[in-house]
Amino acid sequence: MARILTGIQSSGRPHLGNILGAIKPAIELSKNPGNESFFFIADLHSLTTLKSGPERGEYVRAIAATWLAFGFDYKKNVFWRQSRVQEHTELAWYLNCFTPFPMLANATSFKDKSEKLADVNAGLFTYPVLQAADILLYNANIIPVGKDQKQHLEMTKDIANRFNILAGEEILVLPEPQIDERIMTIPGLDGQKMSKSYHNYIDIFLPENELKKITKKILSDSKQLEEPKDPDLDITFQLYSLVASEADVQTMRQNYLNGGYGYGHAKQALFECFMEVFAEPRRVFNYYMENTAELEGILVEGEAKAREIAQETIGKVRKVLGFSS
Ligand code: TYM
Repeated sequence: MARILTGIQSSGRPHLGNILGAIKPAIELSKNPGNESFFFIADLHSLTTLKSGPERGEYVRAIAATWLAFGFDYKKNVFWRQSRVQEHTELAWYLNCFTPFPMLANATSFKDKSEKLADVNAGLFTYPVLQAADILLYNANIIPVGKDQKQHLEMTKDIANRFNILAGEEILVLPEPQIDERIMTIPGLDGQKMSKSYHNYIDIFLPENELKKITKKILSDSKQLEEPKDPDLDITFQLYSLVASEADVQTMRQNYLNGGYGYGHAKQALFECFMEVFAEPRRVFNYYMENTAELEGILVEGEAKAREIAQETIGKVRKVLGFSS
């Protein structure tokens, strides 16, 4: 039996990158009866960049609704908000004291964010330690994530190892990342990695006319309609090939190569594909966004299950560190 665990920050509404890079692959894994899945909303992590409480509440609901919209079976598995299980922050403090300063200072995501953000706070710096705590609390084996999280997973293993050496036994289980090579980094509107912080993301739950408008904003080169085009260099084609059927992708590829097919045509086809492929998730998402009491009930049910397991691990860790009575 493998334990699968992953989280999404509530720093914005989930975008296509989160959905294709993390949510869908994680749900696929969760369907294997041999797996037990732990999916949570990383609302504490979102505090590093988002300070508004009401906005966070809205994003937490949107992320929870997305997991349900893509078919996560919350009854069979564990589904909760990180902030409601206090053992996450407790373990994060202990692990901070097992994390060498240079490991955090050299983290790519910290360097990246500290160059881009005005508010470079200590939470941003110790972000990977809280992430390690999220994973290690639940003895998770497999962590489905996008490529950008690979280094965080390496750090998690390193930190767990340091703790286990002190303990003299494997108290904390070393996890493995699972990254789908094909969808490692979903491109955004500008071709860079799709990201909330780059403002280049596609929100597939937008009302139809807004989703259409956003799709039209995908960057393309200045080739004229009649000219042949290289599909592999085009962002619209890349996105289309991630959501459309194999046959439709081949047709679009041929249209690009033949010429007489403009980027406007491709964007319209992509928009129509979004509306078709995501029709059911859009319906379920809207249902939960309108029925927030039901959503809240689901999360509260999940946090009780999560807490029970987290407390077991924390008990063992406290004992090793001399914090138990
Ligand atoms: P976050 O919220 O930034 O992203 C959530 C997940 O979506 C993936 N992702 C992408 N995948 C492919 N292409 C993209 N353009 C793209 N953008 C985002 C991310 O790789 C991630 O898997 N630190 C995590 C949240 C977290 C977590 C954890 C994850 C907190 N604790 C424990 C796993 C285990 C994060 O920032 O996710």
